[in-house]
Amino acid sequence: MVTDFLIIGSGIAGLSLALKLSSLGKVLVITKKQKAESNTNYAQGGIASVLGDDDNFELHIKDTLECGAGLCHRDAVEKIVREGPNSIHELIEYGVKFTKKKNKLILGKEGGHSRNRIVHSKDLTGKEIERALLYDISKNKDIKILEYFFAVDLLTERNTKSGNQANLSFGKRQDKKSNKQKNCFGIYAFNVKSERIEKIISRKTILATGGLGQVYLHTTNPAIATGDGFAMAYRAGCELGNMEFVQFHPTSLYEKEVEDDTQVFLISEAVRGAGAVLRKKNGEEFMQNYDPRKSLAPRDIVARAIDNELKKSGDAFVYLDLSPIGPKNIKNNFPNIYDKCLKKGLDITREMIPVVPAAHYACGGVKIDLNGKTNIHNLFACGEVSMTGVHGANRLASNSLLEGVVFSNDIYNYIKNDFSKQASVRQLIDTRNDILDWDDSGTENTEEWILISHNKHEIKEIMSDYVGIVRNTYRLKRAFRRIKMMKEEIKEFYNRTRVTVELLELRNLVAVAYMIIKSAMKRKESRGLHYMQDYPKRDDAHYLKDTIITKHSIY
Ligand code: FAD
Ligand code: SIN
Repeated sequence: MVTDFLIIGSGIAGLSLALKLSSLGKVLVITKKQKAESNTNYAQGGIASVLGDDDNFELHIKDTLECGAGLCHRDAVEKIVREGPNSIHELIEYGVKFTKKKNKLILGKEGGHSRNRIVHSKDLTGKEIERALLYDISKNKDIKILEYFFAVDLLTERNTKSGNQANLSFGKRQDKKSNKQKNCFGIYAFNVKSERIEKIISRKTILATGGLGQVYLHTTNPAIATGDGFAMAYRAGCELGNMEFVQFHPTSLYEKEVEDDTQVFLISEAVRGAGAVLRKKNGEEFMQNYDPRKSLAPRDIVARAIDNELKKSGDAFVYLDLSPIGPKNIKNNFPNIYDKCLKKGLDITREMIPVVPAAHYACGGVKIDLNGKTNIHNLFACGEVSMTGVHGANRLASNSLLEGVVFSNDIYNYIKNDFSKQASVRQLIDTRNDILDWDDSGTENTEEWILISHNKHEIKEIMSDYVGIVRNTYRLKRAFRRIKMMKEEIKEFYNRTRVTVELLELRNLVAVAYMIIKSAMKRKESRGLHYMQDYPKRDDAHYLKDTIITKHSIY
């Protein structure tokens, strides 16, 4: 397959970019499951943007920087904040129906925000965005979506006949030492239905593969969030930044037992924004002991406070008390949360909700510049898989959808100016002839599938026990030893086994776990979401910079 633009992923980042790029050429979107399945589809609270009469850009910038604990890149923050209102209007033009009263958008509040600025569609914002964007795409003849197409690896020089020979003659060290700019030519993708690997060649390739929550046992992320984009980029030689900063959302619905691949149900922060308060099991409020903003403090503070209370009491959960909101407003504003809880036997207009923190969002990712470019030529990244510098050490609530839509616009603007149709078609045909076919000689179907599920569970357990909300050097080292060994074992297993989705995901999960731990070990301080018991203080003198990891180094 040959295309002008290959977009991997059908969440807000991928779909909004597809609609724009279709004015420049043919767009192919591939997605590993059904097209709506994405983190975006489950977004509840909404999109932060300066639209209220009492709000201004400086306030949103200040809230974002404060939440990011000294690591946000101010230029990136300014960009998403200042371009926010336009992006919201664009989404409305695409047909997204946000909640309004008398034709005015209703603005919700969430943790860390000093003003009401969350545009939403009741508590089903993400589903509404997916619906509208997919509808527009269905009418666009220049965009094709392939469902059940799983991106396996990015194609670079190492996958070409000429580049492969060069690598062979110089050995691995050449790859390590060479500062030569790499190029991306597309991907190898696994067609899940035919069980074949296909080459997709593209002029520009965009990673929009979302998050990595499934590397933990409890996560708000759906099963697709296995960190594939982070792992692919790492293997291809991209720089990734700040992988240690994994955000735990304070309030997911408590479940006694959670199976692997399950997505725990989120109780939106908008519920606390509307007045709900956290209480211990005995009914006492506790957030006043941690932050003057109480239940509406930024997520790192609230999640750590809950973790601490649970460790002190030995309880399995704390409660979220919605009585200040009142039954009518609960049903009106949070119909999805109300229904979901009711189905589980909990009437939230009368009873408190048992909640626990759960892995939610990757603040780090594939490092990009303000045009969405990675360090590999013709490879871009946007959305949760990318590190733009907006979130620093902790993301401000509802800044993620905003970042996805703003940066996809910037990628479009950059490509528009850099694009010449004629030359590239010839170049693509040459490239296609030079790319090596997928070679699975010597591999076989194995009977050892139990190894995959055991390994996956073990990775999740290690990450949850040792690399969660509270960390220390001893735990990180212990986790690293085990993950490093598993990474080698999984690599060896991968090399001799015919691919399946489960195997590909396992390979990616272990790579992501490795990067998170390695980056966490590098940061010997506590900052934002990274809390180290043996380095409990923030150390601005030594650590006011991003942690960058590549295949060959960390700095
Ligand atoms: P996604 O929406 O996750 O899309 C990624 C896509 O890539 C999917 O289609 C997936 O199938 C595909 N993909 C992944 N790997 C591969 C592969 N190997 N091959 C092919 N396709 C692949 N943020 C906010 O700002 N506001 C909110 O209210 C909010 N609420 C949230 C609620 C929940 C429950 C969750 C989980 C997250 C929430 N977030 C929220 C975060 C936000 O939803 C995500 O960060 C954002 O939607 C990410 O968008 P994306 O386009 O980057 O990725
Ligand atoms: C939520 O609704 O609490 C999620 C918002 C977010 O992740 O930004």
